[in-house]
Amino acid sequence: PASDTSLQKMLPFKFGGAVNINLLRTNTKYADVAKHEYNSITAENAMKFGALHPQENTYNWTDADYLVNFAQTNGAKRVHGHTLIWHQSLPSWVTNYSGDSAAFENIMKTHIQTVVTRFKGKVTSWDVVNEAFEDSGVLRNSIWRQKLGDDYIARCFQYANQADPDAILFYNDYGHEYSSAKRTAITNMITDFKNRGIPIHGTGMQFHMTVTQSDANISTAINAAAATGLKVHIAELDIRLNNDKVQGLTFTTAMATQQAAKYGYVVKTFNAIPAAQKYGITTWNVGDADSWVPGWLGAPDWPLPFDAVYKRKPAYYSIINAVK
Ligand code: G3I
Repeated sequence: PASDTSLQKMLPFKFGGAVNINLLRTNTKYADVAKHEYNSITAENAMKFGALHPQENTYNWTDADYLVNFAQTNGAKRVHGHTLIWHQSLPSWVTNYSGDSAAFENIMKTHIQTVVTRFKGKVTSWDVVNEAFEDSGVLRNSIWRQKLGDDYIARCFQYANQADPDAILFYNDYGHEYSSAKRTAITNMITDFKNRGIPIHGTGMQFHMTVTQSDANISTAINAAAATGLKVHIAELDIRLNNDKVQGLTFTTAMATQQAAKYGYVVKTFNAIPAAQKYGITTWNVGDADSWVPGWLGAPDWPLPFDAVYKRKPAYYSIINAVK
């Protein structure tokens, strides 16, 4: 019966969502979708540097532990960690740090190793570094790069690997589908890491995309990531409909159909890469009302496979049909 279907049962790879821990705690329908539909789970914010490590000598594990416990007690869901080193969501004690580069390196190393060690055996994989490149393909001049030089990224992977040699380590970024310069820069970095023996195991492609994104660009991105030989995680999928920021727009059947087709294309293309490289697909939050997209656009949107009351949308059924 239809009530027995779920994404985790129907798909031949892991499917999950990024979750907001407050909603997971307080909203039964939200938690039910996460329990029933997903076999992989990511924290939308609870494992970021500022959330876990608000002061130099203070770690706050409460929300991250809640998520890990939720995953363990609801069918041993995989937990993907997001994210160890990023230029955003940093606490002010890091952004205002006045020590020398050796001390800053130690901050980076200590944070990575404390967090990875804390969740060893519980968090399967990590976005070790997030969004280190500009769309132009140059390295972003983040505080990490400014203080530690271009090769900080490689050292992050080494530090994480030292802390948990079994953890699957990803480089995660957006724009693979629209910037060939960025895609090439990331591919070159991966090749360089492989040549130098830097432990990297996967590419996270965020895929925050507009419904007008071309199928050709989507397949180019997925196939380029697969061509590296590493695992591929579509790590933050959402497909927005209101890129023009039309105020007062409403969600129509035509929009639902168009969005479903795009979700289906992403899933079908992903499903065609070699099985060992299919790390999974994660949507960025659960239902339309929970998405970061409307706030970011400053306009209404409906980017996810579940609606505001957690009803399955046409996109949901398209995801399942795409693997048949
Ligand atoms: O928790 C505080 C709350 O106490 C405070 O009252 C409120 C006031 O602004 O802010 C709350 O924190 C916000 C947090 O989301 C939780 O809602 C932060 O300000 C806000 O910056 C944060 O935004 C997140 C953003 O990353 C920055 O960390 C979004 O939820 C999250 O969806 C977004 O996710 C990123 C990925 O990590 C990386 N890729 C892009 C993606 C979308 O931007």
